[in-house]
Amino acid sequence: MTTTLATPSPGREHASPTEAPSDLQPSDPLPLLRGFAGLRRLTGMYPPGHPTIVQKLREIDDMVQRHLQSAPDLRIDIIRGDVHLDGVAYRPDGQRTEQIVQELIDLGVHSIHIRRGVERDELHAVGEFLWQMREGTGDESVEALLARRNVRHVSLGRIVPLDTRWRAMEWLDAPAGPLDPSYSESLALAQQTFETVGTGRELDLVTVRDLVQLLIHKVARSNAALAQILAVKQYENLTYCHSVNVAMISLLLGKRLGFDEPTTAALVEGALLHDIGKTRVPLEILKKPGALDKQERRMIEAHTRFGAEILVGTEGVRPLTPTVALEHHRSVTGRGYPDLGDSAVPHAVSQIVSVADVYEAMTGARSYRAPSLPEQACLVLATIAGERLNTALVKAFASAVTFFPIGSLVRTTRDEIGVVVRTNPADPLHPVLTLLDESLAVPLGEVDTASRDASGRYERHIVETLRVREGLDLTRFLPPEPAEA
Ligand SMILES: [Fe+2]
Repeated sequence: MTTTLATPSPGREHASPTEAPSDLQPSDPLPLLRGFAGLRRLTGMYPPGHPTIVQKLREIDDMVQRHLQSAPDLRIDIIRGDVHLDGVAYRPDGQRTEQIVQELIDLGVHSIHIRRGVERDELHAVGEFLWQMREGTGDESVEALLARRNVRHVSLGRIVPLDTRWRAMEWLDAPAGPLDPSYSESLALAQQTFETVGTGRELDLVTVRDLVQLLIHKVARSNAALAQILAVKQYENLTYCHSVNVAMISLLLGKRLGFDEPTTAALVEGALLHDIGKTRVPLEILKKPGALDKQERRMIEAHTRFGAEILVGTEGVRPLTPTVALEHHRSVTGRGYPDLGDSAVPHAVSQIVSVADVYEAMTGARSYRAPSLPEQACLVLATIAGERLNTALVKAFASAVTFFPIGSLVRTTRDEIGVVVRTNPADPLHPVLTLLDESLAVPLGEVDTASRDASGRYERHIVETLRVREGLDLTRFLPPEPAEA
């Protein structure tokens, strides 16, 4: 069985499963889980080829193939009772789903990973295997048992808790080398701040002020620090690291939006302290690897209220800071927590922090999964824009950070490989590419990934940036530099 590592995930986000925008629309993982649960039971009741099994398989296959049209794989993870699809959390939508999730947890299956190329027979074999798992799997590994059933495109995984205060795994693509000194200093100050509040003492506002100034005047001016913050994180992403990173990403967004210095300082302070309420949530709940019961979930969600309470009770905190702590898990459509009523839309500053929070949570090493690469995280932001996040802010974020710089080698949803030759300022996630053949030597012509079909949907998206092997020179595919006047 594939084993992944789970850490407490302080910045977990919840996307609502409904009404996602049509472009880049993620599949809702819940019907798929229900499908597998149904198939599992049916294979225990009927012989292969029975019409009800055929029908159920068709439904599952349709859902899987639809998802795989726009992504190379489909990953469902169950973390503390939340179902994550490709790293984005969906909540079980009722008792029935909760029961299905619990069944999988009881079987020791916490993740289902399906890759492109999967066939219906393999899905059937997985259903059958899930049924047989109730009697245990003996000494043989789940991988071997699945392989014996000719299942090559589906893996089942177990998640185990990872409790480390320091380095997590050495993730691929994580930048190596020492941290930028001012970034490192700001992490130390944030750690001190969070630990002080965690031991029941009052928030040290002098340190918070120093930290805000350090971030605005030093860290924001260091390209090395920004690269370290935006990239995949190599270290264990504890709440204070997450908070510094969220503050810096919020700052980037604020700059992009033309905020003046006092507004920027208010934004950075709010972002820095958005999760301060976590210091009141018992560590064993934050660290609990399995499903959370209702009371534990309520406790985690209460970090928003605790944060607001701590901040309201601290003299000298800027006026918006408690609001950001209270609202950062609420969506632009009035959902999320705490329940403040459907019509209560978060303050613009809280909305900025939410964008930064989701991005940072995805690129952080927190996990039951490898952190997402920056461009993948940004594509996920695009899928939840308009529902969970403010669309204009997601666009501003994507344009503040160049995810697909000219010269990068990328793969599209049509399995094409190309070099980015022009960026598209109006649509930063959809640049113009020169497609290349498999040897990466012959140009096959230019495509604009921003073009849409007759129904208005993008014809292709970029799914990943590829590493360029040493010695491969892609610059010859780029347009010549304009001559100096
Ligand atoms: Fe939070």
